[in-house]
Amino acid sequence: MIWRHATPESFVVFVLLLLFLTQCESSKNCVFQHVPFESTNNTQLFLSKIKDLKQYLLLNYPVDMPSNLKPDGFCQEVWEVHLINKKLKHLASVSGIMLERMFFNITTHIVSFIKGCNIEDSCVRFVGTNITQFLNPVPYHIGNLADKMEKLIELKESADYSNCTIIQCQPDSFTENVTQTNDTVHSPEQTPLQRSHWGPFLLLLLIPISCFLLIMTRPLRNLFQRLQRFQETPV
Ligand SMILES: *[C@@H]1O[C@H](CO)[C@@H](O)[C@H](O)[C@H]1NC(C)=O
Ligand SMILES: *[C@@H]1O[C@H](CO)[C@@H](O)[C@H](O)[C@H]1NC(C)=O
Ligand SMILES: *[C@@H]1O[C@H](CO)[C@@H](O)[C@H](O)[C@H]1NC(C)=O
Ligand SMILES: *[C@@H]1O[C@H](CO)[C@@H](O)[C@H](O)[C@H]1NC(C)=O
Ligand SMILES: *[C@@H]1O[C@H](CO)[C@@H](O)[C@H](O)[C@H]1NC(C)=O
Ligand SMILES: *[C@@H]1O[C@H](CO)[C@@H](O)[C@H](O)[C@H]1NC(C)=O
Repeated sequence: MIWRHATPESFVVFVLLLLFLTQCESSKNCVFQHVPFESTNNTQLFLSKIKDLKQYLLLNYPVDMPSNLKPDGFCQEVWEVHLINKKLKHLASVSGIMLERMFFNITTHIVSFIKGCNIEDSCVRFVGTNITQFLNPVPYHIGNLADKMEKLIELKESADYSNCTIIQCQPDSFTENVTQTNDTVHSPEQTPLQRSHWGPFLLLLLIPISCFLLIMTRPLRNLFQRLQRFQETPV
């Protein structure tokens, strides 16, 4: 009796669990059915948060910002917000209690979004700046992302950012300049790269060349050996 009673309940739990898991799965792939930000005007919300935070900053601390994100009309804001979240969490970890709380007040609203995307950012490089320069654009990045997501969800019933989970970078401005100009200009950075391309190729070439040399020189070697034998045999 007890078991029979329990079956429908465990079934419901099972279905709920399944629903929950599929929900997790969908946001794991960076696909959203709902805007994961709570305000109707996120730019405004984060402007006020940043304003609060700034009151606790004693100095314009040095901070670094991404410098080589590949421009992408679709993914850019996702990447920016991911990097903002990462940086804020790092700043929180090296701050005093009050400042830490202010940083977390901002990240708590981003975390649920970012967690789902599991973004890979190993190609990103940074340039040094100060915390004001870093914080000022934050509300606009978050606000833009939230607005775009809302539009996508309205239009297509989901915001699918699954092709944004690996951040794309552009080459350094230095190499970029070089490639932009001409092939006649060689940067020192290109030479080792070219050498490493040539290395395996030369090795591969070496095998047929040495075979060819061995075959071609066989008569010569035979002649030489015969000559030697001839000299060695006593007259
Ligand atoms: C959201 O807030 C910002 C800053 O206060 C403002 O410039 C913008 O017009 C607002 N957007 C909407 C849709 O209300
Ligand atoms: C977090 O920010 C909101 C405003 O966005 C503010 O009302 C709240 O007091 C802040 N919480 C803390 C712990 O500072
Ligand atoms: C992802 O897909 C969108 C179109 O849905 C495209 O505009 C964007 O460039 C793509 N981004 C990457 C990094 O593949
Ligand atoms: C912060 O950095 C920006 C540019 O990186 C610079 O223009 C500004 O003067 C700096 N502010 C301070 C207080 O150092
Ligand atoms: C790249 O080239 C442009 C113009 O050709 C120049 O203004 C810029 O300073 C160069 N950047 C670097 C890093 O050399
Ligand atoms: C290389 O640069 C010269 C001028 O500096 C230009 O006339 C030529 O078209 C360029 N070649 C290529 C392949 O871009």
